[in-house]
Amino acid sequence: MNPADRQRALDAALLAFRELWQPQPFREIRPAWCERWPALADQLLALPEDAVARLSDDGSAALALLARHVPAVAEIDALSALPEFAGSSGPERNERWAWEIPGRKRRQIEAFAAAARPHGQPVVDWCGGKGHLGRLLALDWQLPVHTLEIDAALCDDGRALARRAGIAHGFVVADALATTAWPQAGQHAVALHACGELHRRLIREGAEKGVGRFDVAPCCYHRGVDDRYRPLSGGLQLELGRDDTRLAVTETVTAVARETRQRDRGMAWKLGFDAWRRAVTGGGYRNFKPVAESWLRGSFADFLALMAEREGLPSPSASAAAEFEGRGWQRRQALMRLSVVRHAFRRAVEIWLALDLACHLESRGYQVVLGTFCDRRLTPRNLLISAHRA
Ligand SMILES: C[S@@+](CC[C@H](N)C(=O)[O-])C[C@H]1O[C@@H](n2cnc3c(N)ncnc32)[C@H](O)[C@@H]1O
Repeated sequence: MNPADRQRALDAALLAFRELWQPQPFREIRPAWCERWPALADQLLALPEDAVARLSDDGSAALALLARHVPAVAEIDALSALPEFAGSSGPERNERWAWEIPGRKRRQIEAFAAAARPHGQPVVDWCGGKGHLGRLLALDWQLPVHTLEIDAALCDDGRALARRAGIAHGFVVADALATTAWPQAGQHAVALHACGELHRRLIREGAEKGVGRFDVAPCCYHRGVDDRYRPLSGGLQLELGRDDTRLAVTETVTAVARETRQRDRGMAWKLGFDAWRRAVTGGGYRNFKPVAESWLRGSFADFLALMAEREGLPSPSASAAAEFEGRGWQRRQALMRLSVVRHAFRRAVEIWLALDLACHLESRGYQVVLGTFCDRRLTPRNLLISAHRA
């Protein structure tokens, strides 16, 4: 299926099912769909913890469960199936190219390099950090590479690594959101996990300037989105808010057990605070500023007291703190289960966002393929937009 057809179909499907995936159980204790599909809500609320963990990470399994109650959502699964880029292992290379790169990151870079194809054009590695990807491409493709990066210290480290490898690999210290000098016409622009507006600007400006080829693996779609996501391509019916774009990146497939425990505790405590606020104000959900990590390391009573003071609420007694800690954990139980419905749509929302970029490039005369460059266990941000001037 070409990107434009897939975009049209996915846009319509996500719009049709938005009552299932847009409400956030963090804000809406019982989303309205629970009334329309009570058997679904009952099944989810009765799930054991291990099933919840599996369904939260595996969007296809979540979608299969959902389709037993709402059969039409099965269409989403077909629309989310993308081709894998056939990797080439690249030439024999000295293992030392990857000095200092943690194992998972290294395998992501190697998979990206294997999926992207050289085009004989000079390469710009957009928001490239120490330029690990750029260095590998300079070695494999034997083409000049420039890594553009805002952090001068990372560029210094990258220059030292390039010298050690003996390759033509330059560094440009620049703000990707402001520079007008990069990317340049005829270049091959690569970007591995340039966040949000960083990858969107590359695609917008690059297409304008006549970049010859793009290989872009997007991430953190919500970064740089104010209130509403502004699509690059036209004709879309669905409108996404910032929180919707965040849904695309919420899975924890690469989290270790300790991080998962911390996340669960943080969520339960914030829900405990939310319950306290609702109880003392009599109102519904209200946004609150991010919580300092250090506040989540002490006791719940201390956390609740700090939050109450910051948000201008009465100070809770010791017995209230104990009660609301319990309520927080109970709400977390329900929230994790009802959120399975959102997880079923997470990949589709991500693909919708990537298709927006792909279709923008198509409208600017590029031939575009949207696929995956590695297994999602290596990184869930495994989409690759590969485009060249038709
Ligand atoms: C998630 S890292 C990805 C780095 C590299 N591509 C990789 O995969 O290892 C994002 C990089 O973007 C850089 N960055 C953030 N804002 C930037 C900006 N405005 N201009 C240029 N680089 C930026 C960060 O310093 C960081 O090195």
